[in-house]
Amino acid sequence: MLTPSSLTLLLLGITPIPTLARSLWLQTTPQSPVPYALKKGAGIALGGGNTFPVTGNSSGNAFCILHTNAAGSYASASGVFPHVHKKTYENFYAVKGRVQLWGQNLDTYLANTSVQETRILSQGDIGAIPWNTIHTFTLLEPDTQLTGVLVPGGFEEFFFNMNLSPSGGGGTLPGAGGFDNEGLAKWDVYPQLDFVPRRDVVNGKGGGTGNWYTGPNPLPGDAKAPIWVAKNYGPKYLSETGGRYQIVAPFVTGTHTNGTFSQGTLTISPFFSGASGANEKIKSTVATAFMVEEGQLEVAVEGYDEPAVLIDGDVIFVPANTSFSYAATAEFTKFMYVTGGGQGLDKQLMDQGRSWNSAFYPARGPTSRPMMRI
Ligand SMILES: *[C@@H]1O[C@H](CO)[C@@H](O)[C@H](O)[C@H]1NC(C)=O
Ligand SMILES: *[C@@H]1O[C@H](CO)[C@@H](O)[C@H](O)[C@H]1NC(C)=O
Ligand SMILES: *[C@@H]1O[C@H](CO)[C@@H](O)[C@H](O)[C@H]1NC(C)=O
Ligand SMILES: *[C@@H]1O[C@H](CO)[C@@H](O)[C@H](O)[C@H]1NC(C)=O
Repeated sequence: MLTPSSLTLLLLGITPIPTLARSLWLQTTPQSPVPYALKKGAGIALGGGNTFPVTGNSSGNAFCILHTNAAGSYASASGVFPHVHKKTYENFYAVKGRVQLWGQNLDTYLANTSVQETRILSQGDIGAIPWNTIHTFTLLEPDTQLTGVLVPGGFEEFFFNMNLSPSGGGGTLPGAGGFDNEGLAKWDVYPQLDFVPRRDVVNGKGGGTGNWYTGPNPLPGDAKAPIWVAKNYGPKYLSETGGRYQIVAPFVTGTHTNGTFSQGTLTISPFFSGASGANEKIKSTVATAFMVEEGQLEVAVEGYDEPAVLIDGDVIFVPANTSFSYAATAEFTKFMYVTGGGQGLDKQLMDQGRSWNSAFYPARGPTSRPMMRI
């Protein structure tokens, strides 16, 4: 708009300074729950290759997302000490490289009525460790990224207070002189030093029943044992609502988390031309975060002038009760989601969608594809 003062500036031959657009992009994780986007690798750092793009503070305690980018080695695998969390649910997602994770329910371990399970997680595989599950893990390749989701948010204060790298290495380990096992309980960490990780892995799997890369990995009906989902071998749902394809591949839903959170991936198409949903806003009563893996995703949030355009590795967080919309600007745009409360966007899409057994959405004929104008 041409205001009297900008007119004066124009008359003086000076270009008026535009009002600064409010941007979703921040340099690092904020300390209160506001909408924000972070470029790949950005976020509060702890050393040891650990960054926290979403924390208890930044999510209103909904969840913490933690990346560990570090070197591991199959030959000298050594990870953290086996331990249990009683109040914290922890998911391990391999973003690149390979991670080995072990898990067993504490009560059935003590009663000797369950078997210890382990999986080698390669890119896109997940292991979910419910409360009260003994677990330990190790990184196996020179360029590995493990993305952890810890619920509720706030558990990360433990790492900062101990200055302990989540993947081991830093700090004092149990067994070493001066280690305060009792003191760990206040951080919801209970070492289980008698647990001996099994080494008999065949085709990425040791212990437990069911498939790994050999067939479907259905989700269990509860969370009394670790949950394993190999990339694209878990359940999938196709939604066509609003004029685009969206495949939801859940890792855990409210069923497995007592309604505290959900996690999975979404693989979406651009909107079909003239699609009704293109301007539709979503308002979720729970917090939502996305981490882009493939393609390009535009996310618009109420109160922000420009949508954020995310590519692989970028993270966006939207607090509960905040209107937003998202759209793929490239085919097969894939992103990991985390939503609080088990009542998020993913549930809505699965309820609207139908069971789907392919990693791909249907091909569209050339006539219905948006054509490039020349
Ligand atoms: C979270 O906020 C508290 C209170 O301001 C602060 O002490 C703590 O360092 C913050 N944690 C992180 C990980 O930023
Ligand atoms: C635990 O159970 C297994 C199989 O049922 C058995 O072989 C083993 O001896 C048991 N271990 C202990 C310590 O009771
Ligand atoms: C899950 O919810 C049930 C029913 O509300 C409750 O009894 C149980 O303690 C909860 N479990 C955890 C680990 O919070
Ligand atoms: C979001 O809105 C719902 C429904 O009005 C309310 O129950 C919930 O507490 C709100 N959540 C937050 C984090 O404000």
